[in-house]
Amino acid sequence: MIDLKNIIVRFGDFEALHNINVNVDKGEFFTFLGPSGCGKTTTLRTITGFIQPAEGKVYVNDKDITNVPIEKRNIGIVFQSYALFPTMTVYDNIAYGLKIKKMKKDEIDTKVRTIAKKVDLSDEQLGKAVSQLSGGQQQRVAIARSLVTEPEIICLDEPLSNLDAKLRVQLRTELKHMQKEFGITSIYVTHDQEEALTLSDRIAVFNKGYIEQIGTPNEIYNHSATEFVCNFIGDINRLNDNIVSKLNEHGAALDPAWHHYIRLERLHVNSEPKDDDVILKGVVKSREYYGLYIKYYIDCEGQELKIIEKNDGINLYDTGDFINIVISARDLMSYPPKEA
Ligand SMILES: Nc1ncnc2c1ncn2[C@@H]1O[C@H](COP(=O)(O)OP(=O)(O)OP(=O)(O)O)[C@@H](O)[C@H]1O
Ligand SMILES: [Mg+2]
Repeated sequence: MIDLKNIIVRFGDFEALHNINVNVDKGEFFTFLGPSGCGKTTTLRTITGFIQPAEGKVYVNDKDITNVPIEKRNIGIVFQSYALFPTMTVYDNIAYGLKIKKMKKDEIDTKVRTIAKKVDLSDEQLGKAVSQLSGGQQQRVAIARSLVTEPEIICLDEPLSNLDAKLRVQLRTELKHMQKEFGITSIYVTHDQEEALTLSDRIAVFNKGYIEQIGTPNEIYNHSATEFVCNFIGDINRLNDNIVSKLNEHGAALDPAWHHYIRLERLHVNSEPKDDDVILKGVVKSREYYGLYIKYYIDCEGQELKIIEKNDGINLYDTGDFINIVISARDLMSYPPKEA
């Protein structure tokens, strides 16, 4: 559906994107994830047409659109700053794209009211000026405005990042529902890994103008292709030499020169070891009680291990408790050291 082929983008002498290749399928929810400055927005703007690549091609449905102007691409765009017309009413903001298309008044009216309902904007709100709405409501207007023209593709650049945590979670669930309902191919930019994992069919993890990995949330999280991805997605423990050699004493064949990692929920406190599990001794340094789970900071073999345990309502370990940590070499993700 959308194909980026060997995209290179330069700003003067600075190369922001080095040979980016991405294929997004029809109807897919595809996310660009990565730290600030890694090239997410630049890649998105190359798709929407705001940026011309120095090299490479952009295809939509096998058609080369690299030189097609923005307004002819039929791509809906939602930015972080809403880019709404503040003095116009909500209604006129949503209707804007349809008026430009010279659609008939009653047709516009039907479309605006239908989409407003979908994003949960009331008739009363439609009559208000945008500046009278809250951030979350304005964001709904921005989403409605981009959906109302029924684009084939929608590009969203950190559309929820100005909102408070609760509203962000609520809106992202709605966004996902709408996206599936409309079947719109969506490209979503975020630096929030939780947002990426919960929303996406697939994720591209960016780093310094390169893509480190493209995969499903589970592939990215549990089979991180690179050390950068494994550190960027979720929390993780890097195991020190003592623990690595303990595992090797029990039959693992870990290269001590490599970097070995384990996710917090793959370590277990005082559980029954099975198969080739190894038991390490540790002392609880502190804990954080989250309700759904408990996070322990544990002193073990000269390093701190972080462990997440499901809150079973029975086992709760205190600071100073001696515990067994059950670990399996099968749960590690291992990476060769980077060449200097
Ligand atoms: N118009 C521009 N002129 C010069 N450099 C730019 C321009 N736009 C982006 N850059 C640079 O290109 C790199 C990638 O920027 P980009 O905006 O794509 O990052 P990002 O991944 O979207 O980051 P963020 O999460 O902070 O939005 C950065 O180093 C940035 O400074
Ligand atoms: Mg950006």
